[in-house]
Amino acid sequence: MNRYTGLIEHYRKRLPLAPEARAVSLGEGRTPLIRLHNIPRQIGFEGELYVKFEGLNPTGSFKDRGMTVAVTQAVHEGSRAIICASTGNTSAAAAAYAARAGITAFVLIPEGKIALGKLAQAVVHGAVVVQIQGNFDDGMRLVKEVAETAPVAIVNSINPYRLQGQKTAAFEIVEELGRAPDYHCLPVGNAGNISAYWMGYSEMVGLSTAASAPFDGGAGYDKTAVTDRRPVMAGYQAAGAAPFLRGAPVEHPETVATAIRIGNPQSWDLAWAAQKDSNGWFDEFSDEEILATQKLLAREEGVFCEPASATSLCGALADIKTGKIKPGSTVVCTLTGNGLKDPDIVMKDGLKDLIRVPAERGAVEQALLQRLA
Ligand code: F0G
Repeated sequence: MNRYTGLIEHYRKRLPLAPEARAVSLGEGRTPLIRLHNIPRQIGFEGELYVKFEGLNPTGSFKDRGMTVAVTQAVHEGSRAIICASTGNTSAAAAAYAARAGITAFVLIPEGKIALGKLAQAVVHGAVVVQIQGNFDDGMRLVKEVAETAPVAIVNSINPYRLQGQKTAAFEIVEELGRAPDYHCLPVGNAGNISAYWMGYSEMVGLSTAASAPFDGGAGYDKTAVTDRRPVMAGYQAAGAAPFLRGAPVEHPETVATAIRIGNPQSWDLAWAAQKDSNGWFDEFSDEEILATQKLLAREEGVFCEPASATSLCGALADIKTGKIKPGSTVVCTLTGNGLKDPDIVMKDGLKDLIRVPAERGAVEQALLQRLA
């Protein structure tokens, strides 16, 4: 039997987990790397443009990669409860993996500012949901304060095991392409994921990074080189929540892409290191540009991601246009979460496109013929 049972069993040697730690898994990882055809043709891009669709993880986002490792380690250390602040996806993953492990999840979310599907996930998996009258950054501060005394393990990406799990997406990409892409584009919120990808790509060339430092010299793991180059890392933010563009925390972050509505990223130094070491860059895009890209991807390629996720492709297309991303290169954009988590956003003006007719053959035929004309 050769059943895929999740990324811990698959990449065990490349993770700093004790051999006896039992994996808490939902079969996460192995997400499709989809080559885009229609959009590149329309813009005359002759390179290879891929999306890594992380929305197809068990709870619908890339957070599952980090959560399987963080919860496995927390249970191994004897924790009976985990806690996180979240804009929605981390709380969904924490709730599901805690349920799987038979422990309690406490999740702090900004009241009224998370997509309904994500809230539903936290509720259905039985997490203790604490809505705070503040934003993600307030939640993050409170989690750190509370965890000082309460017997709970933090599973936000300040937990180094989270980034360890998330780095495996880079492994999958290198294995599938046979090499690293020339550019890797990501949405940036709390900045854990860009740091994790950079660690993953670096380990594939046999190098450590600041993100792997907590484990260097201690719980060593395998970093054997399997390829010889790393991509340029491009991190994209929503203009209303773009601390990396401002060079300082943003006090009142605002964007429709609620997943990345973050003003004070916890992995600040790690993300700057990824940008500098890779000769990469940060950029920002308006809510309108982000939503237009979400729609473009759905209409032209059949891939439905959430708004925050579309920020990566939004940036890539802009940088292809200006030539900052070189013609003929290989580009991977991470689509961090599934569009189904947040249907409200597309239905805001989607409802007006629906056709309403009596339940009669003639009326339906007429509706069809109008569209085909
Ligand atoms: N895309 C989505 C869909 C996200 O949920 C997040 C982060 C990001 C991008 C940004 O990733 O924080 O590693 O830079 N969501 C967190 C959460 C903050 O609570 O679910 P990052």
